[in-house]
Amino acid sequence: MTRRTVAVVGLGIGKSHLEEGYANLKDRFEVLVACDLDKDRLATVGDAYAIPRRTTSFDEVLAMPDVDIVDICTPPMVHLPMIEAALKAGKHVICEKPLVGSLKDLAAVEAAEKASRGTVMPIFQYRWGNGFQKAKHIVDAGLAGKPYVATVETHWLRGAAYYAVPWRGKFATELGGVLMTHAIHIHDMLCELMGPIDTLYGRTATRVNTIEVEDCAAATLTMANGALVSLNATLGSRPEISRMRLCFENVTFESGLEPYAPGNDPWTVTPSPDAKDAIEAALAAVKPVHPRFRGQLEAYAEALDAGRPLPVTLTDARRSLEMITAFYHSAETGEPVRLPITPAHPKYASWRPNGA
Ligand SMILES: NC(=O)c1ccc[n+]([C@@H]2O[C@H](COP(=O)([O-])OP(=O)(O)OC[C@H]3O[C@@H](n4cnc5c(N)ncnc54)[C@H](O)[C@@H]3O)[C@@H](O)[C@H]2O)c1
Repeated sequence: MTRRTVAVVGLGIGKSHLEEGYANLKDRFEVLVACDLDKDRLATVGDAYAIPRRTTSFDEVLAMPDVDIVDICTPPMVHLPMIEAALKAGKHVICEKPLVGSLKDLAAVEAAEKASRGTVMPIFQYRWGNGFQKAKHIVDAGLAGKPYVATVETHWLRGAAYYAVPWRGKFATELGGVLMTHAIHIHDMLCELMGPIDTLYGRTATRVNTIEVEDCAAATLTMANGALVSLNATLGSRPEISRMRLCFENVTFESGLEPYAPGNDPWTVTPSPDAKDAIEAALAAVKPVHPRFRGQLEAYAEALDAGRPLPVTLTDARRSLEMITAFYHSAETGEPVRLPITPAHPKYASWRPNGA
């Protein structure tokens, strides 16, 4: 087992990577550096997690030869230059969602990864929950049968205090709204269980907050396997919930309602009488995982040690960004959009509505 050194850059959600993840995985990772432009945050978080080096300079982080992994938790608009620079410096990169702001930018990251000793792992920590893992295991084992339909809801609450942070609420800096920042997780989980998407017909609206980006969205999807999905998301729900329900020929899965950990149990798994024995036997073999960041970082360390593909890859980021590109294009044109999105697509280089 290799113990790798880490620099955490951006200490908002970066603090949760420390708290849930690295603090519980000291045999796997040693956090050597904290980096943030905000000196107070740097001191508070640096002290709380006894991080030996603190800096406001990302370049200084990249110049440290003993740092193996750069964990980028800064606002979305700086992800691309930071990922490219870190890969150029030969570092492994972990980066928060949304990875970058277009499929064109994603292609740049793919090229930079190919040219580097380092790798990139996007964050999609909601997959690490024992409920979702059970469903994934049954689907991957080929036991679920024909997929029929799914419903997916992201019903959260965000108001003026949340959007007072200057980078939020604007296409130039947040890169999108509820689709990009909040529902991106559960839509990734949907595609893990039922993807890829063939056609998406979407609508977006800004109805809850006075912001530029959307805070309500709804869509119908036809998946490549023929299943039909309806999904919606809002930042105006009391109480907050996340929920997904997926009906397959042999089994129906229903998640719990925990808004920020919809992968966690309790999930309800209801097999058909004919599939009951096989599904129950498969469920007994599912290996429990630690939730969220701890689970994803643990799987990451295991993959690096074994030289296996990372638990979340740029292919996963591509699928997620393709869905968002299609969503904005459909919302803008009023037309259904077929996937995949190619470089010839009008929103390949930017999905900002009406060229904003
Ligand atoms: N995976 C999740 O569940 C989850 C949850 C929240 C946020 N996020 C994502 O994490 C990212 C950050 O969001 P947040 O809510 O933590 O934002 P935030 O504004 O609370 O924190 C970002 C931090 O980055 C620092 N920063 C900005 N530019 C920097 C630079 N050039 N060098 C060093 N530090 C810099 C800021 O000073 C700030 O402290 C976003 O992409 C967001 O979508 C993911």
